[in-house]
Amino acid sequence: MMDQANNLRNLVNKNNYEHKKAELSSRVITVTSGKGGVGKTNFSLNLAIQFSRFNKKVVIIDADFGLANIEVLFGILPKYNLADVLRGEKDVEEVLTDGPMGIKFISGGSGLKELSNITEKQLNYFINNFSYLDAISDIIIVDTGAGISKSVVNFIKASDETIIVTTPEPTSVTDAYALIKTIKEESRGNIPDFKIVVNRVDDNEEGIEIYNKISRASSKFLGVPLENLGYIPYDRFLVKAVKHQQPATICFPNCEFTKAIEKIGNRLMDIPVGKETDTSGIRGFMKRLVNIFGN
Ligand SMILES: Nc1ncnc2c1ncn2[C@@H]1O[C@H](COP(=O)(O)OP(=O)(O)OP(=O)(O)O)[C@@H](O)[C@H]1O
Ligand SMILES: [Mg+2]
Repeated sequence: MMDQANNLRNLVNKNNYEHKKAELSSRVITVTSGKGGVGKTNFSLNLAIQFSRFNKKVVIIDADFGLANIEVLFGILPKYNLADVLRGEKDVEEVLTDGPMGIKFISGGSGLKELSNITEKQLNYFINNFSYLDAISDIIIVDTGAGISKSVVNFIKASDETIIVTTPEPTSVTDAYALIKTIKEESRGNIPDFKIVVNRVDDNEEGIEIYNKISRASSKFLGVPLENLGYIPYDRFLVKAVKHQQPATICFPNCEFTKAIEKIGNRLMDIPVGKETDTSGIRGFMKRLVNIFGN
């Protein structure tokens, strides 16, 4: 097992990406939650649409393996998925599916479950292939499954920014806190940058109250500061949009959900992205991910 970990590490560190320039790195944002069904996928894809309105090129990676989330909400059936790239059968270009407004997405399939018993040759192919995304996108949004599974924790540890979605429900709040706690315990001082979105609120007051609750507990008991990214109201137009398999920000441009997403998108665009290093972008993300999975 150690040998395999070393092999993976060596392989990644060999720098397979020399042909790509550092300034081509994209910003990798992971969207996750403690509890399931809190609105991650709807948030991810509508945020992607908001980013594309800023003329940003966005790729969404559906990392909720097994459950086909993004594609259902877009009402589009992709031909191939991430597992095809992992098996070395398809290029990343071939598994990119076109969504609305120039957004592209990659369906998860059985995805990274296969990463743990991948051969060197396959891994090499995979990483080289993925660096292509840096060249074609400004922002990569990784939509994860809920809960504290190994792969979700690994995704969070590998990404530059993590957005945790919660609702005001106590179970959702405590699960979000538990997720932050687990990441803290596993990341040995290298704690990711957490941003909180409170979804399905009755009003802003409720949003503030919930954010304060999580944020205070996280600062006080974990020593992990959280950033307040904003609140999204409960909006029946979102529910309608889901039924129509259309993103709400496209079919209901004036609804409250859309307005909230616009605000959050603006806020994220205002946040300066860290300096370009060899650890930024999807390359850095893949490096860290493989390092973590190799352990
Ligand atoms: N702001 C909102 N207003 C009204 N309903 C909402 C809102 N956000 C989410 N929902 C409802 O919650 C459902 C689940 O949303 P979504 O699929 O985005 O959650 P998820 O966190 O990705 O779930 P999973 O953990 O299963 O991946 C939606 O289909 C919708 O009915
Ligand atoms: Mg989802």
